[in-house]
Amino acid sequence: MSSSETRPRPKKKGTKKKVVAAPGTPEVKAADEPGSNMPGAPRHLLGIAELSRSDIHEILDTAVAFKEVMRRSIKKVPTLRGKMVINLFFEPSTRTRTSFEIAGKLLSADVINFSASASALSKGETLLDTARNLRAMHPDILVVRSASAGVPWMLARNLDCAILNAGDGAHEHPSQALLDVLTLRERWGTLEGKTVAIVGDISGSRVVGSNIRCLSKLGARVRLCGPPTMIPWGIEELGALSVHHRLEEAIEGVDAVMMLRIQKERAAEPTYPSDREYSRLYGLSPRNVDLTKKDALILHPGPMNRGVEIDPAVADGPRSVILDQVENGVAVRMALLYLSARPIGAALEPPVAAA
Ligand code: CP
Repeated sequence: MSSSETRPRPKKKGTKKKVVAAPGTPEVKAADEPGSNMPGAPRHLLGIAELSRSDIHEILDTAVAFKEVMRRSIKKVPTLRGKMVINLFFEPSTRTRTSFEIAGKLLSADVINFSASASALSKGETLLDTARNLRAMHPDILVVRSASAGVPWMLARNLDCAILNAGDGAHEHPSQALLDVLTLRERWGTLEGKTVAIVGDISGSRVVGSNIRCLSKLGARVRLCGPPTMIPWGIEELGALSVHHRLEEAIEGVDAVMMLRIQKERAAEPTYPSDREYSRLYGLSPRNVDLTKKDALILHPGPMNRGVEIDPAVADGPRSVILDQVENGVAVRMALLYLSARPIGAALEPPVAAA
């Protein structure tokens, strides 16, 4: 728990180094999906790994246009009228499921929320059969969250509608990373040259996998920090600059800190002695937050465990952008639904008619 060594990033051997998957994760390239780049193929969002820097900026720019819609007194545009979205969540969610639902409704899509606990899954139906049956009802987009890494890729290979990954195991949570970088881009204009520390349960988090990729693609440097038991070997290969085991060292002089919850539901065994000890060594408090730049931003994807990884005074303090992240989550998900609702090669209508 108290190790303070800093792991140097391995030297790059070539420019086309293969990105490693998170432990236990089937890494599937977009090119492996049948007809993924063919005209008429569905337009998925599976992981940040498959997005270019310009793809990311296109999504963020579209989200900015939609954010204006959210703030209107009549917050509805006809952009996705006649389109059907099914939220297929096999794991609990507050922010992601609700914001995808609100995003679809603001765009005039019909949104159906699938409840795993009230479904035929409890009678032994497989996840793929469930998804195939829902696809037979002709949704245009399936938004899927699963406890198993790789499920969105499996559905993309088997179904002919757009799949949006709303979090797969400890692998990727691409819409979360996009809303995080939108929140930072709004404040900074650019992420180029900024340093972001991500602190907490690195091995249990899908948010970190997507954020390392997304922040790196936009030119930010990433520091990872957590107890040795929560950081998998090889994580540096995803693009992180450095790995630290002392919080003070990781957050010194950074432009932003992203705190992560301990994913108790994903750990087979406890990975730290007690909440009290974790909080003492890795909790962000008013005292240690002063080690960051004076205007550093504090992020948390939620749900938060107040008093464990983050002190309430920091979570609710002036540097916190945690609720901005939630607001941007709706705008980013509007952008993702809008961009995914047309197949590859189809013309793109303007997102928002002039007010
Ligand atoms: N950040 C996030 O994914 O939160 P939910 O689990 O509430 O969707």
